[in-house]
Amino acid sequence: MEKQIEILRAEAIEVIGAAGDRPALDSARVRYLGKSGAVTALSEGMRHVAKEERPKFGKLLNDLRQAVTSALEEREIRMLGEADAADVASLDLTLPGTPPPPGTLHPLTQLMDRAVRCFRRMGFAIADGPDIETEWHCFDALNTPPDHPARNEKDTFYLPDGRLLRSHTSTVQIRVMEETPPPVRIIAPGAAYRRDEVDATHLAQFTQMEGLYVAENVSLADLKGTLEFFFRELFGPETEIQFRPHFFPFTEPSYEIDIRTGALGDRWMELAGCGMVDPAVFEAVCKRRGDRVYDPERVTGFAFGFGLDRLAMNLAKISDIRMLVENDLRFLRQF
Ligand code: PHE
Repeated sequence: MEKQIEILRAEAIEVIGAAGDRPALDSARVRYLGKSGAVTALSEGMRHVAKEERPKFGKLLNDLRQAVTSALEEREIRMLGEADAADVASLDLTLPGTPPPPGTLHPLTQLMDRAVRCFRRMGFAIADGPDIETEWHCFDALNTPPDHPARNEKDTFYLPDGRLLRSHTSTVQIRVMEETPPPVRIIAPGAAYRRDEVDATHLAQFTQMEGLYVAENVSLADLKGTLEFFFRELFGPETEIQFRPHFFPFTEPSYEIDIRTGALGDRWMELAGCGMVDPAVFEAVCKRRGDRVYDPERVTGFAFGFGLDRLAMNLAKISDIRMLVENDLRFLRQF
């Protein structure tokens, strides 16, 4: 019987090792370990073994069962590894992947890019400032009287520490002049915040573009020429532009700019504020800087600011301004 066990072990290990696929392995398992398998049959032969010899053969049979079981396991693990390797070998890494769907720029970003490109061609640099501002940068330095309605908590978002969300981007004018001596020629695109009830034509956060040009001998003619050029670049050479006298605390004289063009539906649209920088603004900057490089007797400048959201709405014929911030792809994919 000892001999039989040895032969069976050698045979089983060879058969299992040669099993080339899962069905072959399964049938090898049944052939040796199944209910009527060879190992099982040998165990049944124990009945005919002399009593004293039984423990010895019992152990041998156990070893055999163990050896066959682990041979089956080993072969199975190898088979899994081979299957993985075959999968990897059949992968063609040079095939193009699944491309992400190409996106488009937000209509507001597209308009901003066009505006920035145009001003850059005229030599304006891009400036930036924080959205959370001091009251000084937003109002005091801009010659806004303490009782001006814009300072009201109803119109401006205040933080508990007294700072605020800038209600216009004119704050960047002050920050640029604080840090840079004249001449300066900058535009500042960015967010502004007002405590407006959100509806089809109002958002509490909107996008503005500010501009400032300060040097010796900058005149109202420069302001007019620059902005007329800009709006004709943006909307076409036939665009009509009108400067209507207005009031801003930080410019004198001040104007609102109205535009009429086919692209905007052929009716006058109020678009921007502008004017010549008020001497009081230069004085506030001089005081903060501790020098006189912005002496209003030496330098003059113009400033302008306009909102991009409503402009984008009119250009893209969008009826509800909230669509610009809802991030609905069905809407955004149209641009
Ligand atoms: N800051 C003004 C506004 O938000 C626009 C403006 C900018 C006016 C610069 C004059 C000069 O309405």
